Amino acid sequence: VFTVKANQVKAPVQKTMWGIFFEDINFGADGGIYAELVKNRSFEFATPLMGWKEQKLNNAQGAVLIINRGEQSTNPRYARFTVRSASGYGITNEGFRGMGITANQQYDLSLLARATEGRTKLRIELVSANNQKIAETSINLAGNEWKKYTASLTATTTDPKAKLNIWFDGTGVVDADMISLFPKNTWKNRPGGLRADLVQLLADMKPGFLRFPGGCIVEGRELENRYQWKKTIGAVDEREVIINRWNTEFRHKLTPDYYQSFGLGFYEYFLLADDIGAEPLPILNCGMACQFNTAEVVPTEDLDPYIQDALDLIEFANGGTDTKWGKVRAQMGHPAPFNLKLLGVGNEQWGEQYIERYKLFAKAIKEKYPAVQLVSSVGPNPDGPLFDYLDPTLRGLKADILDEHYYRAPDWFLKNARRYDNYDRKGPKIFAGEYAAQSKAVASADNSNNWQCALSEAAFMTGLERNADVVHMASYAPLFAHAEGWQWTPDLIWFNNLQSYGTPNYYVQKLFSVNKGTHVVNMTLNNEIAGGQNGLYANACIDSVAKEVIVKIVNTGATPQSSEVNIEGVKKLATTANVEVLKNEDLQQANSFAQPTGISPQPTTLPFKGKKLPVTLAPYSFQVIRVKIL
Ligand code: AHR
Repeated sequence: VFTVKANQVKAPVQKTMWGIFFEDINFGADGGIYAELVKNRSFEFATPLMGWKEQKLNNAQGAVLIINRGEQSTNPRYARFTVRSASGYGITNEGFRGMGITANQQYDLSLLARATEGRTKLRIELVSANNQKIAETSINLAGNEWKKYTASLTATTTDPKAKLNIWFDGTGVVDADMISLFPKNTWKNRPGGLRADLVQLLADMKPGFLRFPGGCIVEGRELENRYQWKKTIGAVDEREVIINRWNTEFRHKLTPDYYQSFGLGFYEYFLLADDIGAEPLPILNCGMACQFNTAEVVPTEDLDPYIQDALDLIEFANGGTDTKWGKVRAQMGHPAPFNLKLLGVGNEQWGEQYIERYKLFAKAIKEKYPAVQLVSSVGPNPDGPLFDYLDPTLRGLKADILDEHYYRAPDWFLKNARRYDNYDRKGPKIFAGEYAAQSKAVASADNSNNWQCALSEAAFMTGLERNADVVHMASYAPLFAHAEGWQWTPDLIWFNNLQSYGTPNYYVQKLFSVNKGTHVVNMTLNNEIAGGQNGLYANACIDSVAKEVIVKIVNTGATPQSSEVNIEGVKKLATTANVEVLKNEDLQQANSFAQPTGISPQPTTLPFKGKKLPVTLAPYSFQVIRVKIL
């Protein structure tokens, strides 16, 4: 029997409790949520024509040369096309594993160009994978000054693997840069914006926070390629493109074409957080590159620019429009502050080098912005007993929030469902910043987002929620993966160029987040904490605004279990409870493009008998029960 004492409040649930971890891994940003369809639009990849192909119909005469303006520009390269045939010379962009084009949708093309010789018309086409024309428009170039040209195309056919052709009609010399194509229909219809279906999946989670921009991408394999937020704001064509840290041979050799355009930069991340009602949580490089790679560090005496970046970021987010960085934010279109309250110092960093750098950051930030809560890294070693490995120095330093990561087998999640039950209530708070059950091994290419993994995460999350007084935030990781461009699996949301779906893990996250309630209340299973007896895990909250009791129960066992939920400490309850059930009898089952909601919450209702609810907990199931307090 489950007993809920709805009047015995154990802790408030933070608004930030369940959130999102965003990183540009698996084509998460470029090729993913950032809706740009042209790959290598500014010719800045190490191989400048990667993604592009010259076309010479009927032996047309023409050539392309890459010009490099050098260090005077943050976007140094452009392409010079010398066209000597009246027709037949052109270039094709292949997109990110093709371009996802939808019939009857409008696409906006833009480029920076000048005609330094002759007068040339650009004929612009979208073609299907088998080269059938599905949209067409043209641009007349005039003058030898750089200018932005724009045109729109409407597609006649849907194709996930379309391509962009640009034909040069007429002879002459044309310089071109930032050749870009976006769907008109982006999230909130912002020009140059984000993919609407992917953002919608995030918004549906009603996330408490958005952590960005990663992950290892913050650190870089080497410091030179670390994430530097100041280089990701301002005019898009002036944002310096760098190699993506996940352009890698790690597990797969799938992505030699993975770069960061920073079209989705810090300003856009703040906007996204705002749009979906999430607290922004940026993580900054702390003067250390990835400790799994080069492990380069900046000498502490040279750390000032890094610390200054942190201070400036707070001013960028929160400062008045009369401050240097607040003014930049306003010029970009957001005079109102973003209200930043949380800031991460370093990702997955540990040891003495981290502590000495963290101290310098913390001193400077707390002196100027004492209200900003700092998230500090504790390194990826969650196997020892909790108090042994959580860095005692960080406790001594009275760190605000510690960012723990756990990529472990499903069984680990079950065994750790009571991980925080005895955690020091006076120490730093916990951010379970990255976690995901791994069906085979950590980041194995054979991992699956199967129901077993999702169910074990649900069991673990009942323990996070029960300890909401110390666990203030949690997020699954990684978030996104392109089905043809990933480096890491499992991932919360899978997509291709036209479709996307939430995994069973996504629906677990969503159910916890949309049913988080306001306060954790006392709940027991046969007078003990429900932390795994007979494979059952549970927790209860109340929502003091909606006036409801919310009970979450996970049955990790293979057999149905009959039980009863008794709710005490309330005068009267509604006679009917609303229930959402996630279940599947096959633990290996996963969702797919063909069956995107195969495992997804099924709503039902159950009758209360007074304050007692008889329940049959299906095998391998997770249910959320909500009942009104009258
Ligand atoms: O989520 C994938 C990676 O796992 C993150 O970039 C890193 O922080 C962790 O090692």
